[in-house]
Amino acid sequence: MIDPTSKPPGIPLIHALESNLFGAIFEFHKKVMALLRAANLPNDKLAVASERIDHLLRETTEEIKSIQDLNIQPRLDAMYEDVRRMVDELVALGSIRDQMEQIYSETPPGDILWNSETPPKALVELIEAGQVQPCKAIDLGCGAGNYAIYLAGLGFDVTGVDISPTAIALAEADAKRKSVACRFLVADILAGLPEITETFDFAYDWSLLHHVFPLDRKRYAETVHRLLVPGGKYLCVCFSEQDAGFGGTGHTRRTSLGTVLYFSSEDELRDLFAPEFDIRTLKTVPVEGKREPHLMNVAFMEKKLVSPKKRRSRRRT
Ligand SMILES: C[S@@+](CC[C@H](N)C(=O)[O-])C[C@H]1O[C@@H](n2cnc3c(N)ncnc32)[C@H](O)[C@@H]1O
Repeated sequence: MIDPTSKPPGIPLIHALESNLFGAIFEFHKKVMALLRAANLPNDKLAVASERIDHLLRETTEEIKSIQDLNIQPRLDAMYEDVRRMVDELVALGSIRDQMEQIYSETPPGDILWNSETPPKALVELIEAGQVQPCKAIDLGCGAGNYAIYLAGLGFDVTGVDISPTAIALAEADAKRKSVACRFLVADILAGLPEITETFDFAYDWSLLHHVFPLDRKRYAETVHRLLVPGGKYLCVCFSEQDAGFGGTGHTRRTSLGTVLYFSSEDELRDLFAPEFDIRTLKTVPVEGKREPHLMNVAFMEKKLVSPKKRRSRRRT
């Protein structure tokens, strides 16, 4: 600690503090990296961990600098303990596939928080306004298939994809019961969907993107892009960072079901999609939910007719 009877702290103290800080933070960083390597977290959890560690480090560094306290080790030790607890929690969370399997197989469909046979207003409005007409469509993260079945009933040729085999079994059974023709497929969209080689006129993900963390989002956007024909339409709906649910603040939040989700800003979605899609509308609106409405980002876009990358390479040749 700084001796209060000593001369007022001047530049040498700040230098000492900064070099002390630098060395201690370097050591802290090494220990955290070893912890993360040993935990071998999948990418979505690694993204959660990195974001929280960055945040903790920034806060602690600012605090230490503002009080000019040279004895920073106890704070870094306490911070390391926080990080260790968080990593343990993340390890205990299990994979998204296991979590979704557990939810779909242990909860009656009517009690699953997002599962509703009534198609959401934002989707219905697009159809009723004629902005999307019956065509070849893909539902990414289709869950129990409600919206895929709704669209198929309107004459769309729909493929639904979900990571949970139980969700897909529910979707298939419901389509059969309603005598609606739909294709359903169990697959992890983050693996790029190599099993789907055809293209679609319309893609939508309703409440899927908040399961995809920043580290995976570029790859996800590339997959959506590959699946669409040029000019193909795309509706993306995910939780907004402005929503007050599940802890109320921050990008990463844990739900009552134990899932960890990423709440996005409009700017993040714009940065992610604008390079390859023309964004027609992007708004943050309350969307009906079973318990209460949630503020969600609703983005409707079209795949650019010519990819900017191709345009650049054409110009060069
Ligand atoms: C909140 S639910 C929404 C389901 C459906 N769209 C609806 O609104 O009823 C998110 C869905 O995305 C699926 N999911 C999450 N990550 C996925 C991934 N990487 N690949 C495929 N499906 C995924 C989950 O299994 C779950 O069914």
